[in-house]
Amino acid sequence: MIIAIDGPSGSGKSTTARLLAQHLDITHLDTGAMYRVITWGLKEENIDINDISSVNSFLEKTNISYKNANEIMLNGKLVSSDIRKKDITSSVSAVSALLEVREFLVNIQRKLGKKIDCVIEGRDIGSVVFPNADFKFFLTADLDVRSMRRKNELKKIGEDLSIDEIKASIQRRDLIDSSREFSPLKRSEDSIEIDSTDLTINEQLEKIIKIIKKNKEGTSKHV
Ligand code: DC
Repeated sequence: MIIAIDGPSGSGKSTTARLLAQHLDITHLDTGAMYRVITWGLKEENIDINDISSVNSFLEKTNISYKNANEIMLNGKLVSSDIRKKDITSSVSAVSALLEVREFLVNIQRKLGKKIDCVIEGRDIGSVVFPNADFKFFLTADLDVRSMRRKNELKKIGEDLSIDEIKASIQRRDLIDSSREFSPLKRSEDSIEIDSTDLTINEQLEKIIKIIKKNKEGTSKHV
């Protein structure tokens, strides 16, 4: 079974996907983390992302693996905390706009999804990676609410940014993610949209669980 959860930054995708996977006792795959890992690796090696042949050589020797569901590794090195830092967040949208990077990661995501039941979250999962997913959800929320959520998340990892800084960063990322040429962030028509502006994570989760229980075949409606 594949459950796709897409949506913009701060829409509650990650927490919802993690809790839903726990509830269903299946794997949680965070594809945003994969784009962050590539961004981290390119930075480590000082590769200019406009130099496509160097990006390709980097990808050829890149191996992404997992220590456990939440701990991602690049060529055997644990990078799960480093990839959440501000400099990675500010560069990841540009890296994820590269066709070569997308093809590389989509291939990995499809291979993983074929082997296991999973809740897989990202921007293009229901539209491109798994258009035939059993369930497709698209989460949204007001910019103010998303910014506040991101602020709280960042605080937990010791990054204290002003709300205006966070709002500007989210807006910038939303713009790049939704206007890029390849696989832009876009709600696929057959996905179920959930606006979480006024919902707690638990309410959001319950809503999704109810929909899954009610319709094991998948559905297409606005919630
Ligand atoms: O969900 P996140 O903030 O960790 O995602 C980081 C970036 O990766 C985001 O700005 C867009 C990109 N991304 C993507 O292009 N496609 C995906 N399936 C997941 C993330």
